[in-house]
Amino acid sequence: MDTLVSPIAEVVRAGLSARKKTLPPWLFYDAAGSALFEQITSLPEYYLSTMERELLMNHASAVMDRCADSRNLDIYELGAGSARKTVHLLRAALARSGATQYHPMDISLDAMEGAVRHLALELPALPVRPEVTDFTRAVPAPGSRFADGRKLMLWLGSSAGNYEPAEAVRILRRVTASMNKGDCLLLGMDLAPEEGGKPMRDLMAAYEDAAGVTALFNKNLFVRLNRELGADFDLDSFEHEARWNAAASCIEMHLVSRREQRVRIDALEEKFHFDSGESVHTENSYKLSTERLKSLLCDAGFPLEIVWTDADHWYGLFLGEKS
Ligand code: AVI
Repeated sequence: MDTLVSPIAEVVRAGLSARKKTLPPWLFYDAAGSALFEQITSLPEYYLSTMERELLMNHASAVMDRCADSRNLDIYELGAGSARKTVHLLRAALARSGATQYHPMDISLDAMEGAVRHLALELPALPVRPEVTDFTRAVPAPGSRFADGRKLMLWLGSSAGNYEPAEAVRILRRVTASMNKGDCLLLGMDLAPEEGGKPMRDLMAAYEDAAGVTALFNKNLFVRLNRELGADFDLDSFEHEARWNAAASCIEMHLVSRREQRVRIDALEEKFHFDSGESVHTENSYKLSTERLKSLLCDAGFPLEIVWTDADHWYGLFLGEKS
């Protein structure tokens, strides 16, 4: 009988066999990881969510005026999660005279189900067409639902920052390939600390919160491997660590081995050796300058039209229009 091979097995084998051990951040988002990330977005230290919510609240009507006016509008969202951050925009979209449809996309089925339940309560008049997809690989072509309508693609929550900038551009070009001239893209991004003098201690605290939720989120990756691949990671013998990589302008997340140890992974029929102090690099979170984000949008085919930031330039909403 053939053994059932987990789709994540080979990714994990490759990552843990590399000279510098690494695991891709999309592995965070099983049901427990998605729930932990929701908790992160409510932490006092995680300013990214608070600031983005405020910017969306203040500028939702301006975004709609610029993107759709009174015409029909299809709104697509990459990595929509619970869609809680998007409600202000969706409410502003519904307030116009044109019709609106919302197409959230996410890799997590649980997150999509949560979004549908939440929106049915908050905005019962809004047609929601969720898609469970890994938009970084498969191409969920945004089809034109309204013959005379426009499209708005959202990539919020600084999620584009979890990809190398060139990779983020490739993803954007692919998922927006079927959008038309004049359609819009709204990108929500945490900005480089030197942009407005964001203190390093605030930046680090967002990734090393006092309640330890980010540590649980990071370690949940090993919990997942224990469950899905029959691994025997001892959670207490690894430590969550956030590091600032100044040269790349990104926060790195690591799980650092507290001692020399071996971890067995049944599904791979292999043991992996960890030195004391050796790390598994689990995530990058890029913080780019406004200038770099402008050129990123341009490379993606959406030259910048408008940027909204908070007074101190910690976080920005970037609106581009397809050229
Ligand atoms: C989803 N993404 C934008 C988060 C970030 O800030 O890079 C993921 C995260 N990692 C640790 N805390 C939050």
